[in-house]
Amino acid sequence: MTSNSMTVTDPAHFDNPFPVYKTLREQAPVYFEPTMGFHIVTGYQNVKKLLTHSGVSSNRQAMLQELEGKLKPGSIETYMENAKVSMIQLDPPEHTRLRALASSFFHKGTVQEWVPVMEANFHRLIKNEKQKGRLNLGNVARHYPADVICDIFGMPHYCRESYIKNAGKVAKLFGAPIDNELQTVASEANQASIDNARLIAGFIEERVDKPCNDLLGHMAKSYGDGELTMRETTTLCGLLLTAGHITTTELLCNGVYQLLSHPEQWVWLQKNPERVPDAIEEIMRFDTSVPFTIRVIKEKISLDGGDLEPGDVVAVGLSAANHDPEFCERPDEFDITRGRTRHLAFAAGPHVCLGALMAREELRVALDHLLKSCPDLRFDPDNLPQRRCDSLMFRGFKTFHLQY
Ligand code: HEM
Repeated sequence: MTSNSMTVTDPAHFDNPFPVYKTLREQAPVYFEPTMGFHIVTGYQNVKKLLTHSGVSSNRQAMLQELEGKLKPGSIETYMENAKVSMIQLDPPEHTRLRALASSFFHKGTVQEWVPVMEANFHRLIKNEKQKGRLNLGNVARHYPADVICDIFGMPHYCRESYIKNAGKVAKLFGAPIDNELQTVASEANQASIDNARLIAGFIEERVDKPCNDLLGHMAKSYGDGELTMRETTTLCGLLLTAGHITTTELLCNGVYQLLSHPEQWVWLQKNPERVPDAIEEIMRFDTSVPFTIRVIKEKISLDGGDLEPGDVVAVGLSAANHDPEFCERPDEFDITRGRTRHLAFAAGPHVCLGALMAREELRVALDHLLKSCPDLRFDPDNLPQRRCDSLMFRGFKTFHLQY
């Protein structure tokens, strides 16, 4: 086996990465990827150990400093300052404090209150698409989670488009970009961080003076009470939008793609709509939108198949773990009737996805509606979906057109 055959970033593997994951799991479960300069870990038990081990860090400052060295001076200054207070890149105890605060906005009761917002947005977006006489599901999926979170934030409509566009630029740098234009990606992410933080800071100040009940209002209260600094507040808003947007957009497309690629399962789901939540779990297991996450090793760790040393950067293979035959039977078969599994699509440990409940509800609302309103949903043979190949961390589609 050549190192090339293991290159997970090779666009040739993006349509179907599962054979590469299998090769890695079987032949090099702790594999050093020479072109990217990090390790890749792929087996279920190893991945779970990394996600839950106290000797493993989510802090990417050292990586960012290395990146900074390759860029024009000052290119990612603000981005780096924000990263220092971004929950997803912190370890306990700093992480614990921010996580506890953010969790208070995302419990089961609040997510249920948001369901009508999800329904209204998804139904509107599908109706608008259909009025154009087509179904660009990529377009619907891109707007849907962003519109939901902006409604929940209480963000006025005039600035949403630029805020969402900027959040996408920030996410592009976070998502381990596979891109020759690194300087452009980095500079754009930095400017986008500045612009979005300025915008949110204005809304927070307004709500400190005039309290209100939307999500920005709750954050303004935490800021006003001294529980969050302004940088922490604006960074948390940015994180909620980016973490809850691209992930759900891509997962909806991945899910519909798998269901339509297995049309008998689409038909079965129409007859058994109460099984939509099970279908969502299988979609997440089989084709998650976050196939990898990044960790940095703090203390020596022995895994099955190799050791990791302090300072090692690791691409933790969530999707590869979900396809491990030691974790579930027939892992490379998509089967929405298989019953729930303990997949790692939302990770595990202290950083387990904060928005998992919300994501599941958003996907349920979307699939319920598609099954009812577009029973004959199918691929457009002249315009087949095209996978994006620009990120290690996000898996989805560049274009996703359907017929209905
Ligand atoms: C299908 C959609 C989603 C997927 C696949 C997903 C996946 C993940 C994963 C794998 C992580 C762990 C990252 C790491 O440890 O490095 C994570 C963290 C996170 N997710 Fe999600 N996510 C989804 C939707 C959402 C939504 C809708 C929200 C909220 C609006 C959200 C908010 C977050 C936050 C705030 C974190 C950071 C938690 C922490 O650091 O403690 N996610 N997500």
